[in-house]
Amino acid sequence: MLSKKQMSANLFQRYLALFSCPHCGQPILMKEQKTLYCENNHSFDLAKQGYVNMLTHAVNSMYDQSLFEARKQVIDAMLYAHMYDEIVDNLNLLGDVIQVLDTGCGEGTHLHKLQKQFPGEMIASGIDIAKEGIIAAAKNYTNSMWIVGDLAKSPYASSSFDAILNILSPANYDEFKRLLKPGGKVIKVVPQSDYLKELREHFYADSDKEEYSNERTVQRFKESFEHVEVKRVTATREISPELIPLLAHMTPMGWHQEQKMDTAKFTHITIDVDILIGK
Ligand SMILES: C[S@@+](CC[C@H](N)C(=O)[O-])C[C@H]1O[C@@H](n2cnc3c(N)ncnc32)[C@H](O)[C@@H]1O
Ligand SMILES: [Zn+2]
Repeated sequence: MLSKKQMSANLFQRYLALFSCPHCGQPILMKEQKTLYCENNHSFDLAKQGYVNMLTHAVNSMYDQSLFEARKQVIDAMLYAHMYDEIVDNLNLLGDVIQVLDTGCGEGTHLHKLQKQFPGEMIASGIDIAKEGIIAAAKNYTNSMWIVGDLAKSPYASSSFDAILNILSPANYDEFKRLLKPGGKVIKVVPQSDYLKELREHFYADSDKEEYSNERTVQRFKESFEHVEVKRVTATREISPELIPLLAHMTPMGWHQEQKMDTAKFTHITIDVDILIGK
């Protein structure tokens, strides 16, 4: 059986053309099935878990391993299933074999589930600035190319992707435009006003933070892309009580407050998001 590292080496080898050196922009080559490099001798080793760190500078991420573990468990509970349906419907319009980049992919479960649900072939890469997220992604999922990297200095070649996903993460629209193929789409997910409303009501009762508006983000997206569509998808699902502290932990409003919660009072959780689609 192939090791994780060999499997991902094969994947990178096959799709090297998607990458470019984040230092100098030259094409990326591969040697000995373990090192990506450019002709200016910038090099990036494949880690044993099967990801590649292509950061050009040291970063301090706000997210740690426990946060990504919490996200994985919550996302695995399929609270976001309605979001996948809408995203896959849109990806389907792009072709049977598509190249997809998930920007700010975290621990990779959304991308993995989308890849499984997509009826054609999805060649996928996920990038995140948080190494802990990418390590978790690479350990759990072997069919994407996982990159530790910064969207502001991304290691991908221009015009490489049919779709760029950006799920509940910061964006870099100039970079997205550079990376999209002609006719490609950006699919960005932003919270709507009832996103996690059950937790919001608990943490922010009687404060104005209880209200959330994504208006400015949506406006900026509309100014940056053409043919923009906004699709709101909402579902309230039953949740098992042991996930509640994890859900609180994975969202900024819950940080360090989990211990105060009476989890039994939460039986359902609402995932209410806008999906912004632009060319
Ligand atoms: C709220 S998390 C969402 C993660 C994942 N998309 C999800 O929905 O579970 C935001 C992610 O964006 C990543 N991020 C923030 N700035 C970034 C940058 N400049 N480049 C790449 N990733 C970044 C963070 O490390 C974090 O994993
Ligand atoms: Zn280089």
